[in-house]
Amino acid sequence: MTHNLLKGKRGIITGALDSNSIAWKVAQKAHAEGAVFTLSNAPIALRMGEIKKLGDETGSQIIPADATNMEEITALFQQSMDVLGGKIDFVLHSIGMSPNIRKNIPYDSLNYEFLVKSLDVSAFSLHKMLNVAKKMDAITEGGSVLALSYIAAQRAYPFYSDMADAKATLESIVRSFGYHYGKAKKVRVNSVSQSPTRTTAGSGIKGFDEFYDYADAISPLGNASAEDCANYCITLFSDMTKMVTMQNLYHDGGYSTTGVSTEVMEGFKQNK
Ligand SMILES: NC(=O)c1ccc[n+]([C@@H]2O[C@H](COP(=O)([O-])OP(=O)(O)OC[C@H]3O[C@@H](n4cnc5c(N)ncnc54)[C@H](O)[C@@H]3O)[C@@H](O)[C@H]2O)c1
Repeated sequence: MTHNLLKGKRGIITGALDSNSIAWKVAQKAHAEGAVFTLSNAPIALRMGEIKKLGDETGSQIIPADATNMEEITALFQQSMDVLGGKIDFVLHSIGMSPNIRKNIPYDSLNYEFLVKSLDVSAFSLHKMLNVAKKMDAITEGGSVLALSYIAAQRAYPFYSDMADAKATLESIVRSFGYHYGKAKKVRVNSVSQSPTRTTAGSGIKGFDEFYDYADAISPLGNASAEDCANYCITLFSDMTKMVTMQNLYHDGGYSTTGVSTEVMEGFKQNK
């Protein structure tokens, strides 16, 4: 069932790589809720070709942009406004990558050039997008910018490596830029801290499957799916959440406030 929550709104959705991507589901839901938007991803990801299907399905133009490159981000905002016929109402930042994780380098001996890359792609890119958008005055008053985060920003998860540092930085940018953009233009900036989700980025993390099951067993509602996450993102793009800004919002089936579940305790009993 749809509610026309985004009727008349124009957006930019980054990070849809394939049909498992959280951004892919957000695009499908945004389309169903009446929004028009452009899709963007790094040029290398676009060459893999999958995103064209999503562009056809949602009637969206695809604009390549490396989210670490200020010129490409500027072109993304300018072309999106040209194509969509006006300022942007919502932006999804759904971007993450760690060369240290890709190359299986342990956290206590990180490669620092890779660390800089992880931070640039996964966190500073949000700052760069907000900086460009604010200078261009590309986002409407009351517009909503959303990034995706993970609870390793607050707690230690050994397998999450330097992505934990990137997510902590990302959430800090949400607060700090959210303040400045809110004051200047009433633009809202939030992050959604999502359950482990089976996507290319998620599954690239060592031990992901075991951890996915653990989180599912801890959370009273179980893990939140990518589709549920997309529904939540739609509410945050809509005018129903107009006064929500500078927040990191958990979307995790209750995981973040649960100490332990009976299922997990049962597992320990059996092992005695
Ligand atoms: N999957 C999970 O378990 C999980 C949990 C919490 C948060 N997240 C976050 O959700 C977001 C989306 O990830 P996903 O799980 O849908 O995986 P995904 O692999 O489908 O998406 C990650 C995207 O980042 C893009 N990207 C990488 N480098 C880029 C660059 N330089 N410029 C532009 N785009 C670039 C990739 O091409 C890809 O589309 C990420 O921020 C991720 O950290 C994921």
